[in-house]
Amino acid sequence: MKFFIDTANLDQIRDAQELGVLDGVTTNPSLMAKEGITGRNNILKHYVDICNIVDGDVSAEVIATDLKGIIKEGEELADLHEQIVVKVPMIRDGVKALKYFSDKGIRTNCTLVFSPGQALLAAKAGATYVSPFLGRLDDISSDGLNLIAEIRLIYDNYDFQTQILAASIRHTMHVIDCAKLGADVMTGPLSSIEGLLKHPLTDIGLEKFLADYKKGN
Ligand code: E4P
Repeated sequence: MKFFIDTANLDQIRDAQELGVLDGVTTNPSLMAKEGITGRNNILKHYVDICNIVDGDVSAEVIATDLKGIIKEGEELADLHEQIVVKVPMIRDGVKALKYFSDKGIRTNCTLVFSPGQALLAAKAGATYVSPFLGRLDDISSDGLNLIAEIRLIYDNYDFQTQILAASIRHTMHVIDCAKLGADVMTGPLSSIEGLLKHPLTDIGLEKFLADYKKGN
């Protein structure tokens, strides 16, 4: 399972990279705005800065919603750095753009996916990644994890190569549940990855080992 961090905050990306288990970064326009990154040039520069910190894929989202605009923006983003993956929303022109990018060898992440049908369409269009937003489904009392399971079943039935990128992860149990269900990638806050570290018995056990060592040394 690949670990992506879902942020545009460079310090957090550095922290995650230093942990040694980071495989990539996802961003979206809200995350960029949260960091105060505005204006086309600053936004493009920020994507390059992220690519220079992390070793893996960096999802950069288009703002356009028409085919021509998505293609223009996506090509500009893809040209920025070889690690860039063009993030395209699950809308009609987005599906057409996914097919266009796929035919051109430009890697994509189909975002804002909330149903198995949308995921099927993204795979048919040749998306590299599909991003089901499980946390946002949980927020409205729907079952986000079930969506991951349904997409896994569909993709395995037809051997689709599109990778399931479990997005909108909110906490560590989401990461573990997605791993059990066979999601290819998770993206979430750094805390959801760091939570995997923790177990009280580890802390108690280490404290005892160190205390026993001190007795004889
Ligand atoms: C995915 O690529 C999105 O950026 C993200 O996971 C959305 O998460 P949120 O629902 O916590 O905003």
